[in-house]
Amino acid sequence: MLASTSTRPARADDEPAISRLHSDVLGPGRFARSAYRVREGKGRLSRFCRVVEWNGQLVAALRMTEVTIGGVPGAALLGPIVVSSNHQSQGFGRLLIRDAIDAAREAGLRLVILVGDEPYYGRFGFQIIPEAQIVLPGPANPNRLLALEIEGGALARYRGVVAAVSGGSLSKAAG
Ligand SMILES: CC(C)(COP(=O)(O)OP(=O)(O)OC[C@H]1O[C@@H](n2cnc3c(N)ncnc32)[C@H](O)[C@@H]1OP(=O)(O)O)[C@@H](O)C(=O)NCCC(=O)NCCS
Repeated sequence: MLASTSTRPARADDEPAISRLHSDVLGPGRFARSAYRVREGKGRLSRFCRVVEWNGQLVAALRMTEVTIGGVPGAALLGPIVVSSNHQSQGFGRLLIRDAIDAAREAGLRLVILVGDEPYYGRFGFQIIPEAQIVLPGPANPNRLLALEIEGGALARYRGVVAAVSGGSLSKAAG
């Protein structure tokens, strides 16, 4: 099944379908998530956002935003990643994450961070960030703040507050 599936970059006209997917799967509490708060006012879709279409329907979407951490560039914040309820556990999430990591590497980024479950993201190489080293807006469970070093030893260079990099967005729409 997945052999015939691939991800593609998100386009501005995917936004309504992506928003519906987020609303259906994440519910109204999604706006409190760190990834939403970091991006507030900085646009929604970036060149790193990707989607999966299956039978003509958008069934999975990943957002990733270039960020600075403590003012240091070269990092990205992954999230949210959402797979529609009817299509979960079929490999779509894995496909999106692998392609996003490849895109980050090709763009010369050194580190990808996210807020999520280590038992899932650990399989891609994400590890728990030492407590208080990296700070996101809002309350965050330190055991869910994870990083993947694209460049060996990169995490040690990043310390402080995460902020979205302005520019490069496909869209400036809110929410
Ligand atoms: C989490 C999510 C993105 C994973 O994508 P997916 O396409 O369903 O998952 P994949 O096919 O890549 O991987 C499936 C495997 O991951 C496991 N898995 C899924 N979510 C997990 C979690 N939160 N913790 C641990 N394992 C998890 C499944 O049990 C399955 O395990 P198996 O391979 O041993 O059978 C998707 O299930 C989803 O959208 N969930 C709801 C929204 C959400 O929580 N998003 C992440 C926060 S931003």
